Amino acid sequence: MPENGFEPRIVAFLCNWCTYTGADLAGTSRLQYPPNVRIIRLMCSGAVDPVYVLKPLLEGADGVLIGGCHPGDCHYQSGNYKARRRFAVLQETLDALGFDKERVWLRWISASEGAQFAETVREMTSALKTKGPRVNEPIGPDGFEVVRGPIEVDNAWTRSS
Ligand code: FES
Repeated sequence: MPENGFEPRIVAFLCNWCTYTGADLAGTSRLQYPPNVRIIRLMCSGAVDPVYVLKPLLEGADGVLIGGCHPGDCHYQSGNYKARRRFAVLQETLDALGFDKERVWLRWISASEGAQFAETVREMTSALKTKGPRVNEPIGPDGFEVVRGPIEVDNAWTRSS
């Protein structure tokens, strides 16, 4: 059930060579799309670690978009094939943890497809508005709730003694 005035927060991991450039083209072409997306540029969609997706979801994002070059067009030959395999495993993992896997999208958008990028953001924003905020979504077998907002992480294990 959507919340009144709800504006979803989307984190987008875009590959530098295709989807990021497509997003840039959408901007320079003055194509209108919702301002709900925060873009993080990576060199390749194959560099998107599943942890990169889980972290924003745990910290209050309502959706995550992964964008890369079309199959066969990856500038690193096979990075997007790796992204596609990881995405399939990630979807199963999200499902097993109790996350709504439909909140994570993988799309192939080239540097010349600014209109496609704008349309994807419109579609995703609309879909997430329909779903509503990602609160009270249980994770884990005990069904505990996700708290919206930043979480404190104890990074003591990363400190050298
Ligand atoms: S460089 Fe774009 S997906 Fe690999």
